[in-house]
Amino acid sequence: MTKNRDTELIGKILDLKKKRNAVILAHNYQLGEVQDIADFIGDSLGLSQNAAKTDAAVIVFCGVRFMAETASILCPDKIVLLPDINAGCPMANMITAEKLREKKKEVPAATVVCYVNSTAEVKAESDICCTSANAVKVVESLDAQEILFVPDQYLGHYISTKTGKKMLLWPGFCPTHVRIQPEHIVRLREEYPQAKVVVHPECRPEVIALADEVLSTGGMCRYARRSEVKEMIVGTEMGIIHRLKKENPDKRFIPVSEQAICPNMKLITLEKVLWSLEEMTPEVKVPEDIRLKAKSVVDKMLMIGRG
Ligand code: 13P
Ligand code: SF4
Repeated sequence: MTKNRDTELIGKILDLKKKRNAVILAHNYQLGEVQDIADFIGDSLGLSQNAAKTDAAVIVFCGVRFMAETASILCPDKIVLLPDINAGCPMANMITAEKLREKKKEVPAATVVCYVNSTAEVKAESDICCTSANAVKVVESLDAQEILFVPDQYLGHYISTKTGKKMLLWPGFCPTHVRIQPEHIVRLREEYPQAKVVVHPECRPEVIALADEVLSTGGMCRYARRSEVKEMIVGTEMGIIHRLKKENPDKRFIPVSEQAICPNMKLITLEKVLWSLEEMTPEVKVPEDIRLKAKSVVDKMLMIGRG
């Protein structure tokens, strides 16, 4: 019954997608059935790169708001749809442009690096942006004595350990990744001694210290394809397991914690994708003055590429 319903929904989505000249982009944390209808699935960097080069007139962004905003920043002439406008990123909302302006007054000499998980207004107040896939490379490229990193303290801390740079860290964090605890990894390592432990840099430092690799979600998908990886303990949001298993059916993927679920990522469903294509709403559009400032910050990052 559910299968028939999904088949019907998918048929309608694909017809409308063609009619509207739309492309569907999905983040690696999306529900499996949403990933399965996407034209491209990836991490934040891959999705921005894809948005920047698409010829489609409409981008249906299956992810969270800052991702759709980044697509709108890069493609002002395209319609960017976010099938559920409530899909936000709590970490991105842990800083506002106003609070950042105040902080900049305290440290006027600091170069501001913002994680892509931030609003367009915060990007517009920053000097350069980064994703988890290129954060170390972006910071290494800077000739700065002092760096203010916003909003993720844990990603910022990880970058400072890799680059040796002095960094002031905004106290933001991802409520999903903080659920991953060192004890989870210690227990799973005992149970699966052959497995590689791969975690996202949004995890706490105590978790990162126990990992074999610290990678973006796209980096995890590439790492899983390596021949020496047969079993992988996965320290990030659960949604990625769908893609890892689909692309590597003979390998074993063990989530570090089944509590690592981002409720915002799960707001996008097949029904909502269909409705957004039918109604051409909700649209995400960044005001032009903010967009122009934010674009130069995102462009600088895209020039650097993947780390
Ligand atoms: P990635 O860019 O690694 O996919 O991370 C995005 C994100 O929101 C992680 O929580
Ligand atoms: Fe934001 Fe965390 Fe969800 Fe990623 S997993 S979108 S950082 S709340």
